[in-house]
Amino acid sequence: MTTTPASPDPAELLTIALEAAHRAGVLLRDGRPADLGVAATKTSPIDVVTEMDIAAEKLITDRIGRLRPDDGFLGEEGASSEGSSGVRWVIDPLDGTVNYLYGLPSWAVSIAAEYDGEVIAGVVEAPMRRETYQAVRGGGAFVNGEPARCRPAPEFSHALIGTGFGYLAERRAAQAEVVRTLVPRVRDIRRAGAAAIDLADVGCGRLDGYFERGLNPWDLAAGALFAREAGALTGGRPGQPASGELTIAAPPGLFEPLQAMLEELGAWHDRPRPS
Ligand code: IPD
Ligand code: CA
Ligand code: CA
Repeated sequence: MTTTPASPDPAELLTIALEAAHRAGVLLRDGRPADLGVAATKTSPIDVVTEMDIAAEKLITDRIGRLRPDDGFLGEEGASSEGSSGVRWVIDPLDGTVNYLYGLPSWAVSIAAEYDGEVIAGVVEAPMRRETYQAVRGGGAFVNGEPARCRPAPEFSHALIGTGFGYLAERRAAQAEVVRTLVPRVRDIRRAGAAAIDLADVGCGRLDGYFERGLNPWDLAAGALFAREAGALTGGRPGQPASGELTIAAPPGLFEPLQAMLEELGAWHDRPRPS
């Protein structure tokens, strides 16, 4: 007879994620070598990994694995296991690696816990901001322990919108086309360089909205939960959840016109629009 694993307590998973993210954040902040270089490249020569990405993922998976040996993992730097508890940890040990490499402060550790495929707890730790963004599903969003709320929707033309670009030249060219059309229609565009922080910024009211094509589960799992719990809507193409195809986060009232415009502009594919 097979037994169904007991459903986990999201608050307990959150506590574990907070602790692991904090430790990884300290390692990354205090352990960054002055001569930090590129250890490897991934999808293209500008998609870089440093020794610190790898060290941070090891710290996180060792720590969580000791506390919850039956859980699975999906980590950007290679952690991949099924587990038997129904819980899977989705980890970006260093989101914003290019910023980190250059000494820019916008980078974060992102850890989410999924149960049966749904994200139920998430932490984005941004050491250089001295901020921790946390959420459990249905429990609200908090920054350094204080409730977080997204901004009410502005008029579309007054919206400050964050976005990002992938590492492949063909995708970037298509993404630049979308931004070219969008930028005269909104207040302004921001490209901060860390998707987890962009999503957290929607939840904190520091951006009105955010969209990006090409994210991986580890880029968006924790930050999208935080944004939703702070009152934002998240999604992809109309009727679809946020995914690698397209991720959008914005408050109700802005989400819908932004989604419609991104659909019209073809922000979900890499082919240039006919001019
Ligand atoms: C990247 C950052 C960036 C986004 C890219 C991501 P990484 O993650 O979040 O802002 O535009 O799509 O891949 O490589 O720094 O972990
Ligand atoms: Ca990332
Ligand atoms: Ca990363």
